[in-house]
Amino acid sequence: MRDIVADWKRFLATKLKLEWQRDFFDHRLRKEESFTEKTDYIRANPVRAGLITLAEQWPFVWTADPQKQASRENQTFRPGAPGGRALPCLILAALALASCRPDMANQPRAKPLSESNFFADGTNARPLPPHVIARRDASAHEPVDTGLTNGAYATQLPMQLTSELLARGRQQHEIFCAECHGQIGNGDGPVVQHGFPRPPAYQVERLRNAPIGYLFDVISNGHGTMAGYAAQIEPADRWAIAAYIRRLQEPQRSPPSAP
Ligand code: HEC
Repeated sequence: MRDIVADWKRFLATKLKLEWQRDFFDHRLRKEESFTEKTDYIRANPVRAGLITLAEQWPFVWTADPQKQASRENQTFRPGAPGGRALPCLILAALALASCRPDMANQPRAKPLSESNFFADGTNARPLPPHVIARRDASAHEPVDTGLTNGAYATQLPMQLTSELLARGRQQHEIFCAECHGQIGNGDGPVVQHGFPRPPAYQVERLRNAPIGYLFDVISNGHGTMAGYAAQIEPADRWAIAAYIRRLQEPQRSPPSAP
């Protein structure tokens, strides 16, 4: 790497007549004029901003020049008159510091499992956010994970049917399903209107008679052109959606109002 950089600097030095500071990785020496240019530009900022009409009316204060610093110690504080070499020195110092400190490489970071005084629980290992699907659980064999009891589709919801469960089911349905199936499940979601195959309405006889475990299985593993959602929706939420579909299938129920 060192050789490549050296070659590159040598090439630029001859080709573009750039001077490089000795032993520095990429530190180009700049000419005095370019600093004057920058100084003038900075001093003209308040003029451009319309705050003053002449650059001299805006006093800049800086302390980069050690000689001025010394003489200033004997004086009462007085905003420095702009000009001189101080600002170029300040800019030079800023540029030099900026290019020397490897801040990007040495950023604060937390090592896995290390102690933390930032997080309330004192550890940098963060717990999984809620509803994260653990891949290793995908092979779970409980009815609640498969929708099957003794190899047949479950006919019962494996948890209690509560209004919270239905609300969750509705919310998840609107996130993952309604774009195709429509909000009330009649199969006319926007994706279908743009040409995706139209799914059957949840309200057709066959699906109304299907066990709830079947709905869970379709959500988990997909059906025909529809992909499965086991990798995106955790089992409890799949059941919540199935319960909500059951609700949409009830003939006496008027379609839920849009949120
Ligand atoms: C990208 C569009 C799309 C999305 C999103 C989608 N589906 Fe489907 N779904 C379909 C299509 C198309 C079919 C019909 C597939 C077939 O018969 O080939 C279908 C079929 C179904 C069926 C009926 C299966 C049968 O036996 O006929 C159910 C139930 C169902 N989807 C539920 C859901 C639920 C619940 C969600 C959300 C978790 C969902 N779908 C998300 C497109 C979608």
